[in-house]
Amino acid sequence: MQKLVITGGRSLKGEVQASGAKNAALPLLAAALLTDEEMTFLNVPDLADVKTMLKLLEQLGCQISRDGHKVVISAREVLSTVAPYELVKTMRASILVLCPLVARFGHAKVSLPGGCAIGARPVDQHIKGLKAFGTEVSIDHGYVKADAKELVGTRIITDMVTVTGTENLLMAATLAKGRTVLENAAREPEVVDLAKCLKAMGANISGDGTDRIIVEGVEKLHGCTYKVMPDRIEVGSFLVAAAITGGEVTVKDCNPADLEAVIVKLREAGADIKTSPDSIHIKAQGRLKPVNIRTAPFPAFPTDMQAQFMALNALANGSSQITETIFENRFMHVPELQRLGADIAIDGHTAMVNGVDKLLGAPLMATDLRASAALVIAALAAEGESTVDRIYHLDRGYEKMEEKLRSLGANIIRRFDK
Ligand code: UD1
Repeated sequence: MQKLVITGGRSLKGEVQASGAKNAALPLLAAALLTDEEMTFLNVPDLADVKTMLKLLEQLGCQISRDGHKVVISAREVLSTVAPYELVKTMRASILVLCPLVARFGHAKVSLPGGCAIGARPVDQHIKGLKAFGTEVSIDHGYVKADAKELVGTRIITDMVTVTGTENLLMAATLAKGRTVLENAAREPEVVDLAKCLKAMGANISGDGTDRIIVEGVEKLHGCTYKVMPDRIEVGSFLVAAAITGGEVTVKDCNPADLEAVIVKLREAGADIKTSPDSIHIKAQGRLKPVNIRTAPFPAFPTDMQAQFMALNALANGSSQITETIFENRFMHVPELQRLGADIAIDGHTAMVNGVDKLLGAPLMATDLRASAALVIAALAAEGESTVDRIYHLDRGYEKMEEKLRSLGANIIRRFDK
C-alpha cells in the first residue's frame, strides 16, 4: 500500500509545469482505432488511466510504442473488437472504444462499466446515439453488443450534456455516411481537442466548442501527429494548493482560457492572478474569502474542481455553499475533511461550509480521484502530519503530483507500506 505523508504549513513557491490532460488523452488514444495508419501522440501524461487505455488498445491488437510522453499507435491490424470487463471495470472511459470500433469494423462488444464511487454514471446516451446511426445494439451478459452494416449520419439530441458521450458519438460520426448533427453537445475543451485531432486525421467537423457539432462523414481517416492539450484540472488543483497555503506559484504550459470559471472563483476568494497566453501566476496571502460554487457543464464551474474548492472554503473566513449538479455522490471527501477539523454539513446536493481558522493533520483515506487531490490540498494547509491512504486514486489522474508539490516547497513524501 502506498501513502502520501504530508506535513502542512509551508507556503508553495515557484514554477511548475502542467502535464497533458488525462481526459483529453483517453479519447484521443481511442481515436487511433479509427484509422489503419499510424498515430503519434505527444504530451501524453504518464498515468494509470492512460496505461489502462493502452493495455485495452493492445488487447484489441494495436501495435503500441511509448517513449516518455510520446505514444505511437498503429491500429492497422485489429484482431478483436471486444473490450473485456476486467479492463473496463477499472476505468469507465474504456467505453470510448465502442464507437470507433463500430465505425471502422461494424461491430464491437464492450463491457458495461457499471457504477462508480461518485455515482451511477450510466452510458445510455452513448447507446441511444449509436442506435440512431442505424446500429443494432443489445445488452448481452453485461456487455454492450453493437452491429452495423454501415453508420448513417443522423441528428442526435442527448438528454443531458455528456462529455464522453459526445466524444464517442463524434468519433462515430466521422466515418458515418452523410451528415450528423450532435445537439446538446458537450463544450468541454477536451471535446474540442478531440475534434482538432480528428480534423487533422481528415474528418470534416464544425461547431466543436458549441452545443451543436456538425460532422460530414468521410470514407477514411489517416494518421497524424497530435499534441495532447494541458490538463486544466491539474492546473486548477495547483492553483488551489497555492491559494490555500498563501503561496506564490506560476503554472507553465497551460491554457488559462480553459480555466476561466476557476480563475474567477479564485479571484473572488481574494487571490491575485495574472495570466499570459500559456501560464498562470497566482499569489495569495492570509485567510481567503469563502466562495459559493455550483458545478455545471463547461464553461461553468467544473465538477472535477469541486472537492479542491471545498478544501479551500474549509479554511476561508466565513461560510459558503457548494452545490454539485453533475454527480449524485460526489461529497465523499466531506467526512475526510471533517477529520481534519473542517465544519461542513451536507443537505442533498449542497454542502454548507463554515470556514475554520485551522485544520489539524490526521490520517485520511482517498475515495476517488478528485477527492484525493482535495485531501492532499487540505493536508498541505493543516497543522502537523497527515497521511493520505489509497493514493492509487490520485495516480489515476495526476502525474508525479508529490514530486511537483515538493519542487514548490511542500513537505510531502510517498511511503511504501507492506
Ligand atoms: C467526464 C470526465 C470526468 C468529469 C465528467 C463531467 C472523462 C474521461 N471524464 O466523465 O472527469 O467529471 O466528464 O465533467 O472525460 N450520464 C447519463 N447517461 C449517459 C452519460 C452520462 O446519465 O449516457 C450522466 C452522468 O451520470 C452524469 C452526467 O450525465 O450525471 C454527466 O456525465 P458525463 O459528462 O458523461 O461524464 P463522463 O463523460 O463519464
